Amino acid sequence: MNRREVIVGATSAVLGFAVADVAKCSEGKEDGFLKRLTEVRSATKFTNQPVAEDDLQKILEIGVNSPSALNRQPWFFAAVTDRRLLAEIDQAAKIKAGRLSLTGTPTVIFVCGDDTNYARFDVGAACDRMSVTAILLGYGAKVVASPCSVVNTEFKDRLGVPEKYNAYAALLLGVEEIPSVDGVSGATLRVPFEEKVSRVKG
Ligand SMILES: Cc1cc2nc3c(=O)[nH]c(=O)nc-3n(C[C@H](O)[C@H](O)[C@H](O)COP(=O)(O)O)c2cc1C
Repeated sequence: MNRREVIVGATSAVLGFAVADVAKCSEGKEDGFLKRLTEVRSATKFTNQPVAEDDLQKILEIGVNSPSALNRQPWFFAAVTDRRLLAEIDQAAKIKAGRLSLTGTPTVIFVCGDDTNYARFDVGAACDRMSVTAILLGYGAKVVASPCSVVNTEFKDRLGVPEKYNAYAALLLGVEEIPSVDGVSGATLRVPFEEKVSRVKG
């Protein structure tokens, strides 16, 4: 069983997918999805392989079913695989070609929110659920905020984003050409755990 199959199986347990998928998970959770989520970093390069349509559907369903303050569901997700449109956005946002340009990304989900109270928190949480789902399905993911300004001023109509929403982030998804680095050797180190977490025990 390869790593992607293990991850997909573990995902089933977490996200309630088919029991048959759960049976695919032969590794313990400590070696499977928890390890993956602890170590995974933002994708740095994608292959041309598309995100499978049924995987994208699941990722979007996870987003739409996320919790939100007062159940306002203040989000809208625009999933784009049209490379010509992505190239136009790259150009308008002055994002260089290659590496992690939008054009070099198989699927970009523009994660949008309205301006109600808590919307940014809710939309961020929904974005992260989608990102985690994609990772557990074996894809690489990266969140970028840099294209949002031009998306909101120039591209909302063509992305099918209703007027009351604005893009907060773009979630870049695809099959990674080079797997993202692990948490130990990676350049993107984290502040020590103790500086970011307190525990108050009874
Ligand atoms: C809300 C948000 C916005 C981000 N915007 C950008 C961006 O515009 N450009 C970029 O290169 N990375 C962006 N990132 C990626 C972060 O820089 C990256 O997650 C952080 O440096 C940690 O690196 P790692 O994910 O590889 O561990 C963004 C991440 C988040 C969560």
